[in-house]
Amino acid sequence: MTTKEIREKYIKFFTDRGHVETVPSPLVLENDPTTLFTSSGMQQMIPYLKGEKHPLGTRLVDSQLSIRMQDLDEVADNRHLSSFEMLGNWSFGDYFKEDQLSWVWEFLTKEIGFDKEKLYVSVFEGNDIVPKDTESYEIWKKIGVNDTHIHYYDLKKNWWARNGMLPTNMPSGEIGGTTSEIFYDFEEVSHNPEFGSFCHPNCDCGKFLEIGNSVFMCYKKEEYGGLVALPQKNVDFGGGLERIAAALNNDPDVFQIDMFTGIIKKIETEIGVNYGTDSKKDRDFRIVADHLRTSCSLLAEGILPGNKLHGYALRRLIRRAMFHIHLLGSGISGSSVSHIAEDLRNHYPSVDKNWSFIEENLNLEATRFESALKRGLAKLTHAVSDGIKIDGKVAFDLYQNDGFPLELTMEILSQNGMNFSTEEKNLFESEFEKHKENSRSMSAGIFKGGLENKSDENITKLHTATHLLHAALRKILGEHVGQKGSHITGERLRFDFSYPQKLTDDEIKKVESLVNEKIKEDLTVTFSEMSLDEAIKIGALHFFAEKYGERVKVYSIGPKAGPEINSGRAFSREICGGPHVTHTKDVGGVNIIKQEKIGAGIVRLYASLIN
Ligand code: SER
Repeated sequence: MTTKEIREKYIKFFTDRGHVETVPSPLVLENDPTTLFTSSGMQQMIPYLKGEKHPLGTRLVDSQLSIRMQDLDEVADNRHLSSFEMLGNWSFGDYFKEDQLSWVWEFLTKEIGFDKEKLYVSVFEGNDIVPKDTESYEIWKKIGVNDTHIHYYDLKKNWWARNGMLPTNMPSGEIGGTTSEIFYDFEEVSHNPEFGSFCHPNCDCGKFLEIGNSVFMCYKKEEYGGLVALPQKNVDFGGGLERIAAALNNDPDVFQIDMFTGIIKKIETEIGVNYGTDSKKDRDFRIVADHLRTSCSLLAEGILPGNKLHGYALRRLIRRAMFHIHLLGSGISGSSVSHIAEDLRNHYPSVDKNWSFIEENLNLEATRFESALKRGLAKLTHAVSDGIKIDGKVAFDLYQNDGFPLELTMEILSQNGMNFSTEEKNLFESEFEKHKENSRSMSAGIFKGGLENKSDENITKLHTATHLLHAALRKILGEHVGQKGSHITGERLRFDFSYPQKLTDDEIKKVESLVNEKIKEDLTVTFSEMSLDEAIKIGALHFFAEKYGERVKVYSIGPKAGPEINSGRAFSREICGGPHVTHTKDVGGVNIIKQEKIGAGIVRLYASLIN
């Protein structure tokens, strides 16, 4: 069964059972600095799991591309990906365990045809805070799951909160719940004895594969310590589309599913070696296929390679892909990497729609890296043959001068039988910290323990400031200026827009003054809800890569609240989810701190609040 068929069947199965299909989140959540990228379908659902009313009702379904880049080294095995599609269904205080478990089971065994004997499930064993989930155990038995296929596990396995947090280290306000997971048994894959003598569904040896997870999201961390019950009992299900497809193939290798075979075939043709014939090369095949898929998805949303946060994550992916293309010995040059990735257009409409932008920027970054790769490889090869020790400092110089990511240096060293110790890695990290804000925080996830109120407030102000900036840029530079991306932290806003060259000092000054003038005028910020068509008709700005639902909020910033704003006198009008300040004076003042030209025809501005 193709991934497209599975996705469609899943959405239909749940819409037939009263769910409304919702639009998945963008990969960078504009107002959520707690994670770098959207890493699960539930991220956009948090307010509704906490009790807020969702405009589409109490039952939702979608398929969300989720990025989990914490450990890129894992991608080299046959089941870990840097991004995957999560089939998700939610109940906000509506149905609970009984319906959820029987529907998931029905979907897997009837709708897409899994043999029930190959499936195993897990439930929470209980501890002194959260009781044993005997209810789920009994439901599974009633459904017809044999008790040898139902396993109890502790919090480490059967508790879910964002970023793998346990009740003990969740910050106040964070939500979580016990889980019931479903596993597929690749019977013919024998258990790897390295993992001990006893194999069980949660063993990491590769025999079992987790394909779905029902989270019973019922708890919230209180300000002073304990867990309290949420006002409603929720369900948050996530199923791994790629893994389900692999399990249906009865082949544990996720890279054998249709989503990746197009890329793999292209590489096979290029290098004249088939995937599956050389285990060392297989690793390269996988890394290239995985990283190109994630890279194209990020580019499709207007994210561009750069030196910080999202841009740096993307840069790492493209450079690693390029490096492994090099290891494969293919003649592919930086300027034609897109050729390998092109099959993704058949799987993702957004990749297809934005293909010329993706192609241009993917190849541009790959070409930039090509010369760095040559220089870095030459330096490393010399150092290795001269017996020079590559320590953290040398590795950092290679990064700093040649754009050579640490993991590539480490990889080359290990291929030459050399070790890069943890101490050297730490030395690299501290050098890195001195110069750049990013990398480490990214691999550790940028979760900082919940939002502080102060930063929440700043985010709201910066959000309104972004709208003012967008409108001011269009007034000063021309209406052809369009948003290409935006990101806000508690400290600054970042705004990418289409423009052929950097702005002059005079233009920057004019834009900044106009924004501050509108702040001083104390304009009113209001929103109204309307259909997407109506919003576009009244000229509300929207962002090409953002996916919108049928009904949208349009934020207007103008002289007075009410109809005047919507009758053409607004300074700014944009489709947006909010939140915003109610009066522009609350923003205080804005300072443009930096500009960069970040890609073909794209300029990036950074601005902060004047306090
Ligand atoms: N939030 C859960 C997960 O990410 C289920 O959707 O696994």
